[in-house]
Amino acid sequence: MAYAIYATEPGGTENLVRKEFELDGPAPDEVSVRQTAVGVNFIDIYIRTGGYPWPVDNNLVLGCEAAGVVEAVGSGVSGLREGDRVAYVVKNGAYSSHRNVAVSNLVHIPDGVSDEVAAACMLKGLTAYYLIHNSFNIEAGHKVLFHAAAGGVGLIAGQWLAARGATVIGTAGSDEKCELALENGYEDVINYKTDDFVAGVKALTEGSMVDVVYDSVGAGTWPDSMHCLKRHGTIVSFGQSSGAVEDFKISDLAMGSFYLTRPTLFHFLDDREWLENASTTLFDFIGSGRLNIAVNQTLPLEEAAKAHQALEGRNTTGSTVLIP
Ligand SMILES: NC(=O)c1ccc[n+]([C@@H]2O[C@H](COP(=O)([O-])OP(=O)(O)OC[C@H]3O[C@@H](n4cnc5c(N)ncnc54)[C@H](OP(=O)(O)O)[C@@H]3O)[C@@H](O)[C@H]2O)c1
Repeated sequence: MAYAIYATEPGGTENLVRKEFELDGPAPDEVSVRQTAVGVNFIDIYIRTGGYPWPVDNNLVLGCEAAGVVEAVGSGVSGLREGDRVAYVVKNGAYSSHRNVAVSNLVHIPDGVSDEVAAACMLKGLTAYYLIHNSFNIEAGHKVLFHAAAGGVGLIAGQWLAARGATVIGTAGSDEKCELALENGYEDVINYKTDDFVAGVKALTEGSMVDVVYDSVGAGTWPDSMHCLKRHGTIVSFGQSSGAVEDFKISDLAMGSFYLTRPTLFHFLDDREWLENASTTLFDFIGSGRLNIAVNQTLPLEEAAKAHQALEGRNTTGSTVLIP
């Protein structure tokens, strides 16, 4: 019998419950997937707690990325067959043993990339892709500050930015996390729980500061992130793990003629050509050994609540994967 982890209403992890269900056959443009690995992301926490809009009245299945095997194919589907290994990013519905997915959201997982790795990197790796290629076009020689460097997106981005020739400074919340980030592309990492990261960036860049700050922490790093930029620098604000920034005025950008963008992966995913290019690049990068995906926490799907507690408690590094 298929089962999923439902959130009964916005709130704490006590609202996550296991329920069995009968999966309908796929619609003409869908396939049925037996899921083998499900990625956990901070967006799941924003949605579970009601920080991001709650899309249905109740009984929401969380989860936005997964990998699995095609078990049945809709009547209008071409290019996918029973037995194919596939992965996807879709808003919600992934904390499930089985589900139907629209073909437009799916990509094949190549040989040489495991299901666990695919589930750990679809959302985070495609995010790293757009941060580096689309939100700011990173070139060799750019200086970068990346917050939460030892996290899921952070460990991927550090390696990728370094491969593009950027000099990357990270921040992280413990000395152990700083060490890990240093092994993943970061040239220097500042423990922002114990040290002033603006002073750190100033010292490390000998006062020239950075071209771009990638800030997914939000309230906890704002407005200091702006103080790390060189004139005409860019802030890419792409998350709020410590809470939303609430005291920002457009005129704040005038302190250095700064640029600010607030992107979301789902807007890139709507473009099928972008998804194919970005996922091919991501999987090639992994397959060739240039990008390591650190699956540092693996739990049964039934323990999704435990995974949430660890992620929101800042007790994880790299990616977390749930196994149905
Ligand atoms: N906009 C998009 O398209 C997009 C897509 C993917 C991810 N994101 C964002 O990118 C960020 C990283 O996502 P992820 O899933 O890879 O998570 P993650 O980085 O593995 O976990 C979040 C990290 O944020 C840091 N943090 C700082 N203050 C925190 C606080 N008060 N509470 C909790 N964590 C805090 C922690 O690292 P330290 O202990 O080292 O500080 C924590 O490990 C999230 O903000 C997420 O929403 C955005």
